[in-house]
Amino acid sequence: MLPHGDKRGVKRGSGASSSQSSLPALQGAVAIYDPGTGEHSARVAHAASAVGRRLGLPDPDIEAAWWGATLHDLGKLGIPVDVLHKDSALDEAEWDQMRRHPVIGADLLLAVSPSLSPVAEAVRAHHERWDGGGYPDGLAGEAIPILGRIIAIADAFDAMTRIRPYRVGVVSPADAISELRRQSGSQFDPHLVGLFIDLHDTGLIVAESESPT
Ligand SMILES: [Fe+2]
Repeated sequence: MLPHGDKRGVKRGSGASSSQSSLPALQGAVAIYDPGTGEHSARVAHAASAVGRRLGLPDPDIEAAWWGATLHDLGKLGIPVDVLHKDSALDEAEWDQMRRHPVIGADLLLAVSPSLSPVAEAVRAHHERWDGGGYPDGLAGEAIPILGRIIAIADAFDAMTRIRPYRVGVVSPADAISELRRQSGSQFDPHLVGLFIDLHDTGLIVAESESPT
């Protein structure tokens, strides 16, 4: 278990930057397997690194936040495509498969190099909940690695607001912010929700519909 919950940063192995040269290839593999997620992941990466910067995390941790956010759903490579792209509700067995993606993603990163453990840890933790009801490890509060807590908020905001065909299920940025507030202290770290909302209010984090292009 890595240190978390403070500003001293996350553990790094040696050779992290040379191993990071493999990460764009993994990003490309996800883009092929699950088209359309690239821009979502890029926005999540931008938002997660903005929160990390506001927290005063050291540069290597901000880089790990960026890569962890970019590759947060890397483990979907291990989910059968008919489950991943199913248009109807998933049954319990299919949900069980989907819930494996944080572990699959983290294991893939560690297989590339143990020096990627900060990125792997962030990926593994991005579906944990502040109240302990998340997965895969059921961690709660500051026991959840901080990069995972940050990515969870950035991912939820972008998942709610990203533009979809026919705009089915799209939430306005204001409603998405209200939802983050509602889930603050239950799903999400309340301190990080406050930081995220400040960054959104000042235009440093934007939803897809608020992007200039
Ligand atoms: Fe995910």
